[in-house]
Amino acid sequence: MTTLVVASSQHGSTREIAERIAKVLRVNKGVTTVVEHPKDAPKWLATVDAVVVALPIYRDALDKAGKAFLDTHRAELADKSLFILASGAAPSINPRLQATIDSYGPRDTAYLRGALTEEKLGFLDKLSIKLVKGQYGDFRNWEAIEAWGKSLSDRGAH
Ligand SMILES: Cc1cc2nc3c(=O)[nH]c(=O)nc-3n(C[C@H](O)[C@H](O)[C@H](O)COP(=O)(O)O)c2cc1C
Repeated sequence: MTTLVVASSQHGSTREIAERIAKVLRVNKGVTTVVEHPKDAPKWLATVDAVVVALPIYRDALDKAGKAFLDTHRAELADKSLFILASGAAPSINPRLQATIDSYGPRDTAYLRGALTEEKLGFLDKLSIKLVKGQYGDFRNWEAIEAWGKSLSDRGAH
């Protein structure tokens, strides 16, 4: 069986988290994994029984492409072992977004901090960050990311 890892990402840091999760599942747990963008992921749904969806938070909302995948495939995902990982720069997730994530019926969820790199952003995005006094930096905790990834094999990602 293959575990599908759906990586929604605007500037690449959530994609790297998703790839690391796929790697630890493959290398440490012997799980066959495939990492896909939400647009290319649906073709796998008929053949996998575990799905990990990784999506960033932008402007206090779940990233559109990742959320569209969850919304469009809600019924199919209900029959699978579903895991959802949200990533943002804030130290913790807004409870309203956590409630939205929980509404998809995941077997487990994680909030893992991402990376905010000034050089990757356009003028308007930089202005938004300035307005909320956001901090730039790479906040990813690779140990926590790998630990969560490995834990999925005991809960249906195989
Ligand atoms: C314009 C903008 C708005 C953002 N809004 C939020 C937010 O509301 N909450 C949060 O925790 N992080 C926020 N972030 C931080 C991103 O979630 C973080 O940088 C994430 O790792 C980006 O993932 P990506 O590189 O895969 O696109 C924002 C970043 C940008 C550029």
